[in-house]
Amino acid sequence: AKYTYVDKDTCIACGACGATAPDIYDYDDEGLAEVIFDGDGNRGIKVIPEDLYDDMQDATDGCPTDSIKIADTPFN
Ligand code: F3S
Repeated sequence: AKYTYVDKDTCIACGACGATAPDIYDYDDEGLAEVIFDGDGNRGIKVIPEDLYDDMQDATDGCPTDSIKIADTPFN
């Protein structure tokens, strides 16, 4: 399984990830990205379905600050 979350300490609110993977990433009131998939709340605990892997990888590759983290185990 794959999990993802956004490190808001390094996100610069560039806005790329939500455009690339709108089912996974959205923005908070400050424009910082967060994982919204399945009510994750940017905890990195919800299993991302395989059909979203390509979008998730593209978002990670496209983040200018490497703020999008992906792992095989939950982050929390
Ligand atoms: Fe932030 Fe990177 Fe997305 S800078 S808005 S996490 S593409």
